[in-house]
Amino acid sequence: MVSTQSVGVESGLKYLSESQDALQSRSPNQELLPLTASVKSRDRLEIGGCEVTALVEQFGSPLYILDEETLRAACTQYRDAFKRYYPGSSQVLYASKAWSCLAVCAIAASEGLGIDVVSAGEIHTALQAGVNPDKIYFHGNNKSPEEIQLAVESGCAIVADNWLDLETLAELGKLDVSSKTGGPIRVMVRFTPGIECHTHDYIKTGQIDSKFGFDPNSLDEVFKFISQQPSLFCVGVHAHIGSQIFELQPHDDLADIIIQALTKALSYDLPATEINIGGGLGIRYTEADDPPSIEDWARTICTAVVAACERQQLPLPKLLCEPGRSLVGTACVTAYTVGSKKVIPEIRTYLAVDGGMSDNPRPITYQSVYRVLAASKMSAALTETVTVAGKHCESGDILIKDAKLPNCESGDVLVVPATGAYNYSMASNYNRVPRPAAVLVKNGEVNTIIERETYQDLLRFDRLPVGLRVQK
Ligand code: LLP
Repeated sequence: MVSTQSVGVESGLKYLSESQDALQSRSPNQELLPLTASVKSRDRLEIGGCEVTALVEQFGSPLYILDEETLRAACTQYRDAFKRYYPGSSQVLYASKAWSCLAVCAIAASEGLGIDVVSAGEIHTALQAGVNPDKIYFHGNNKSPEEIQLAVESGCAIVADNWLDLETLAELGKLDVSSKTGGPIRVMVRFTPGIECHTHDYIKTGQIDSKFGFDPNSLDEVFKFISQQPSLFCVGVHAHIGSQIFELQPHDDLADIIIQALTKALSYDLPATEINIGGGLGIRYTEADDPPSIEDWARTICTAVVAACERQQLPLPKLLCEPGRSLVGTACVTAYTVGSKKVIPEIRTYLAVDGGMSDNPRPITYQSVYRVLAASKMSAALTETVTVAGKHCESGDILIKDAKLPNCESGDVLVVPATGAYNYSMASNYNRVPRPAAVLVKNGEVNTIIERETYQDLLRFDRLPVGLRVQK
């Protein structure tokens, strides 16, 4: 792998990892590019042993390129760290909202992870991917009765977020709906832990003023209600503080709060033996981002939970967590092809690509900052400062402001790293742009995991009203 460059000349090579550690021991969330990223011949970026430009030639552009090794490394690091640092039993769930599709769910499950789902669509995806329903946990602040019924009938656990969830579950319990699976209805109680953390306002969830979870002051009432429902089996409590978090302290603080909630559940004689501390570990989108490693995150949580249990003199509960971004985020890059170039002398150069806010809505939604590389000019000096614009009819559709790139022209392939989480899952068809394909790469082999949408797909649900004639 080429990982050095001439002194004083910056090139795209600077984005490759400088770590000499073995691939599997690097924490993916601390890297900018997938673990297998390299530049071997012809100055071209390779992911999973495949040249990005060759993938674009074969599968079209834009293209999500998912590196299997990076995804698996993140799964095993989470799983193994919880085994190493937690003396009780543990279960890592993949928060599939980050990227819900058959392949990602199946890979996570094959590494022993369960799945966190938030809609009937995500439940179907996880089930179709072959995930054991015992390991599927159904979240959501406004689950429909049909969604709850599907989850219960399939044997998933329900994370009760509010009174409506509990009332619906109690009704289903009376109807003996759970009999299809034979087991009782497993319920976790989600509450807001009252912890603030430093992240974008839209992705904070732990503060008291949040739409998610029970107010902690109502927990007595909640546990009492559940204890009066013979069909509901309260397996534990859940809290999640937010997303893209770089601090460890809020997670440390959470341990005592969640163990106190568990103690309260036990005081109502509920069979509560699980706690779920949510997800939230941040990833590196730019060199300025410095998240803790998966191992440090897990160690902090495990140590804090063990200490909190000692203080409360409680046997260790089963410890669950549900990361999304830090499992899949770094594993994927998006490749685009450059189209038009607009030079406004002394003001700005816009380089437009063939995707944008429809395949990556994060910059326009959260002002997220990304890096960009020229896939076939990896060692060329970064001489230009350009703004990479999307193709959508919206001035705010800018993917990267003031990006440093070598000189790029129409036809060049650009790569935006760290697009595995909340990109495909939040993609849209704005301007009737078909969603891109996604390929999985490993050791030079490539498989399509999501087909590119066609124009026919875009019209699939359109109907012309009867009798409407279009004058030609
Ligand atoms: N558990 C719960 C209850 C959650 O609400 C979330 C994320 C997670 C787990 C996973 O969090 P993670 O490990 O991925 O940080 N669309 C936003 C992120 C929204 C996060 C929603 N909840 C973004 O693109 O930044």
